Amino acid sequence: MLLIESKYLDSHYCAGKTIFDKMLNSVGFNVSSTLLDAGSGNGCYSTAISKIVGDKGKVVSIDINSDNLFSFKRTNEISTGFSIQANLISIPMKENTVDGVWCSNVFQYLTENEKIQVLNEFKRIVKPGGKIAIKEVDLSTTMLGPSPRIFWHIVLKAMSSRQINSSLNMFNVLKYSRMLNIQRISYKTYILEWTSPIESKVFRYLHNLSGTIKEIFRQIPLSEEETFYLENYIQVRENSDYVVSEDFYWREGYILILLQNE
Ligand SMILES: C[S@@+](CC[C@H](N)C(=O)[O-])C[C@H]1O[C@@H](n2cnc3c(N)ncnc32)[C@H](O)[C@@H]1O
Repeated sequence: MLLIESKYLDSHYCAGKTIFDKMLNSVGFNVSSTLLDAGSGNGCYSTAISKIVGDKGKVVSIDINSDNLFSFKRTNEISTGFSIQANLISIPMKENTVDGVWCSNVFQYLTENEKIQVLNEFKRIVKPGGKIAIKEVDLSTTMLGPSPRIFWHIVLKAMSSRQINSSLNMFNVLKYSRMLNIQRISYKTYILEWTSPIESKVFRYLHNLSGTIKEIFRQIPLSEEETFYLENYIQVRENSDYVVSEDFYWREGYILILLQNE
């Protein structure tokens, strides 16, 4: 399963909903405004944003992937809004057309140059004074109990992966926003952590996530010890010793970079 598939996105949002909604609500988007959900995936956040803007507001959801937009159209509960299939490096909207942007877990897929292009597009389409909120995985906060050392050892081996590298380098976005004269309001990391016993919705998410992580790491030559760790700890499986262990622990963090158009 890919990290952009609809089934994965649902399990992710569902497991972290309390914290993710807190992040979204902390931005201070206004009722009756028009907001862009940039890289909306299957629309988990578009639905949450539509509740903030209300009936008089509008949600525009953009994603490059038509499969996800299709499933979003099928399932969304948004009364006022529409979706567009497009690449964020060239957004098909006029200048100053939205009051704000929410962009969740998309920057990890962009090259450094694309991050600058996308920020520039946000600056172009957001009205003066409008907020631009970028949420991303902050891999540096990850901790897998009871033995995180080998996890980090493997992560360092996988630094050639754009996703892993980007998830450790989100501070670059602060530098790019300064380059583009977009004002910085704040940046803050929010932590999700789970201990034993985990609820079924958390198991579902971690099972999906860890299966994919294992596939990413499988492309890297690993020692016997590293492979053992990958199979028995990083992979969250039903009734595995790791999951049922009293010491099970999983922590992950998300940074929220809040910017404002001048
Ligand atoms: C991990 S998903 C996140 C989806 C959603 N924002 C969420 O947090 O649930 C990343 C999404 O970004 C989209 N994406 C990646 N690069 C993009 C680009 N250059 N332009 C538009 N969408 C992009 C992918 O198709 C995918 O749906």
